[in-house]
Amino acid sequence: MSETNGFEPKIVAYVCNWCTYLGADLAGTNRLEYPPNVRLIRLPCTGRIDFNLIVKAFEMSADAVLVSGCHPGDCHYTAGNYHARRRWMLFRPLLEALGFDLRRIHFTWISAAEGRKFQQVIAEITESARKLGPYRPYEANGESKWRPAGLPPPKRRSGDDASLRTTARELLAEGKAGVVIGRGERGPVLARKPEDADRLTWNGASKIALTAYLKRKEVRALGKPAIVAGPADLRALNVLEQESQIRREDIHVIAAEGPGAAPPDFSDLDALLQLEPGERMAYWAGEFDRCVKCYACRQACPLCYCERCIVDKNRPQAIDTSAHARGNFAWHITRAFHLAGRCVGCGACTRACPAGIDLRLLNQAAARAAERQFGYRAGADPKAEPLVGVYSLTDKEEFIG
Ligand code: FES
Repeated sequence: MSETNGFEPKIVAYVCNWCTYLGADLAGTNRLEYPPNVRLIRLPCTGRIDFNLIVKAFEMSADAVLVSGCHPGDCHYTAGNYHARRRWMLFRPLLEALGFDLRRIHFTWISAAEGRKFQQVIAEITESARKLGPYRPYEANGESKWRPAGLPPPKRRSGDDASLRTTARELLAEGKAGVVIGRGERGPVLARKPEDADRLTWNGASKIALTAYLKRKEVRALGKPAIVAGPADLRALNVLEQESQIRREDIHVIAAEGPGAAPPDFSDLDALLQLEPGERMAYWAGEFDRCVKCYACRQACPLCYCERCIVDKNRPQAIDTSAHARGNFAWHITRAFHLAGRCVGCGACTRACPAGIDLRLLNQAAARAAERQFGYRAGADPKAEPLVGVYSLTDKEEFIG
């Protein structure tokens, strides 16, 4: 028996209709043989290849995945592949933090004239997957002993509670605000009458990011909101405005004097990345095993504001709603990737999770990639363009073959 013990890998290739698919076709018409292990799935453009499809392929026992489209400059839709490249640059670090084996995820540009390249790429990927053996990441046993240090204690705001209450009372009494959203000793406070302002304090508690209340219809119905904002809230407001979800002139912001936004602390993520991929996967498998899909992470997040979340859609059903390993991985990968280039590091997802899962680590994987690869920090510059949604011709592509 060979060193691969007769194992034949299953490879899923998502290819764009206009280049790689035609490259595969050319390989066929030229009688260029390539291994039959690959299942080609034709999509209109790499810009339309949802990252969920990569995850889905592994859910369905693929041993390797290829995503391939037109060379830069050749996209049939002008820039679909540039947008895709940028998303991949953020998606790969997220998969890495989760412990996926990046040797099994391939990206290439193959044109309609490159039948020979298509043949070679498929042969190489098949050979490498054969050597790596079967891939069953979701069967990780969840027995990692590694634990993150966890969220640092919140920084104390130096504002004076008396003047905060006076400001809030005046805004409500004069009708300049219909509601003041802030923190109280025991949780969030939505002050609607002047006397409610006495419950506000700068250093109160809230598991939910206060800016998350701005998306709620029942809060919007209360009239112009005022919000008691800390550094993460200010960044979230900037992102929400970038994404046309709010207009700053429609919101009264009460911000404390004191320390501004501290540089992000990626030390837990760094420690996680020191582990072997298999152990990272085992860590997350153990964590997600406790997830009951309550979606508290989504509700607490200031930047999860879709009217209808992808997880609630069932035509097609992109994410399995059951609380088992596959569904939980798919949900948390999706949530984290939807926050790529947007998460402001408020930690609300971690605080809100009743199962104690430190979800901020996943958001940090993309946030750190955004900082390192693009010098971009979500919400730090209100004038900056959103990171995902634009692209640059100079985006790095050393991982694309
Ligand atoms: Fe091929 Fe856009 S049409 S990548």
